[in-house]
Amino acid sequence: MQLNAPLDMHLHLRDGEMLENIATASAHTFSGAIIMPNLVPPVTTKEEVLAYKNRILAAIGDEKFTPYMTLFFNPNYTKEFLASVKNEITAVKLYPAGITTNSEGGVSGFDVEELRPALEALSDLNIPLCVHGETNGFVMDREAEFVTIYEKLATAFPKLKIIMEHITTKESVTALDRFENLYATITIHHLLITLDDVAGGMLKPHLFCKPIAKRPEDRDALLNVALKAHPKVMFGSDSAPHPKHAKEACGCAAGVFTAPIALQLLAELFENHHASIDNLQNFISNNAQTIYGVTPLQKTVILEKKPFMVPLDYHGVVPMYAGEKIAYSIKEVTHT
Ligand code: DOR
Ligand code: ZN
Repeated sequence: MQLNAPLDMHLHLRDGEMLENIATASAHTFSGAIIMPNLVPPVTTKEEVLAYKNRILAAIGDEKFTPYMTLFFNPNYTKEFLASVKNEITAVKLYPAGITTNSEGGVSGFDVEELRPALEALSDLNIPLCVHGETNGFVMDREAEFVTIYEKLATAFPKLKIIMEHITTKESVTALDRFENLYATITIHHLLITLDDVAGGMLKPHLFCKPIAKRPEDRDALLNVALKAHPKVMFGSDSAPHPKHAKEACGCAAGVFTAPIALQLLAELFENHHASIDNLQNFISNNAQTIYGVTPLQKTVILEKKPFMVPLDYHGVVPMYAGEKIAYSIKEVTHT
C-alpha cells in the first residue's frame, strides 16, 4: 500500500529534550504537519514562531519534513501584527482558557464583538483559525455544547476558515455540512476507541485525552466521514507526548502519543472497513492540501501487511498500543 505526502494537520512536537526525542517519529513518515503552539509560554510572536521552527528543523536532522507553524490565538492581535507574521504561519490556534494542556492563556466568554477585530483580520488575511472546541461543561457534553459557538463564529465570520480540531461527536460531524466555512480534523484514536476503552475496565491512562473519547454512535459518525474522505475532513493525529511519569500518575496528563504508528493504524482501519486506498489518500493528504492550500514535500510511504510490535516506549513516552501487535508496518519511505 502506497501513500503520497502524508500530512498530519494537528501535531504536538513540544520543545527541548522532548522535541529532540520525538520529532523524527513524525518527520520520518509525514511530509509535514501543523505544529500546535501550546508551549510554556505559548508561541505568540513572530520571533517565537521562527525560533521554534528552527528548533524543530534542528531536531528532525536529515528528515524531509515541513513544520507548518501556528500562533496561539490572542484576541488582542491586530491586523498589522497578523499581516507581519502571515508568511511564517499556516494557521492560528484558539484554545478556550484552561480547557487542556497549557491553555491557561486562552479565550473565555466567546463574545463575538470582543473577538471581531482579530477574527476579521484573520478572515481578511485568509489565515485559517484552528479551534479546540470544548466548553467547560460536563466532560462528555463539552464538545457538543461548543457547536453553538462554532455556529456563532461561522455565521459572524463567513469568509474565515474555521477548523474544528480533533472532533469526537456526531454533533460536530453534522455541523460540517451546515456551514460552508467549517472543516475538521479527526485523530486515529478517536476513530478506534470509545470511552469504554479508556475507563470501561481498568483505567487506561495512555488513552486519556481531551476531548475525551465518546460513545459508539459518535465514533460511527466520525468513521462515516473519515472512511469516505468527506472533503471537509482531514487527518490530524493530535499526537501529544507526555513523559510516562506524567501519564501513570495521580492526575494523569491528557494526550495520546500516536505519531510513530498513525499511518500503520490508518492502513489497518481503512482495510478493516473495506474503504478504498483512494479515500485514505484523500483523508491523509489531498483534502488537507485543498483546505489549507499547501503543496507538501513529495514523500512516498510504502506500508506492508506485516505485524509490527509497538515498542513499550519511545524515549520514555508510551505510545498507544505499547507492547501490542498491529497489522501494518512501514516498509519504505522515499522522497524526491
Ligand atoms: O489530550 C490532549 N493533549 N488534548 C489537547 O488538546 C492538548 C494535548 C496536549 O497538548 O497534551
Ligand atoms: Zn492538540
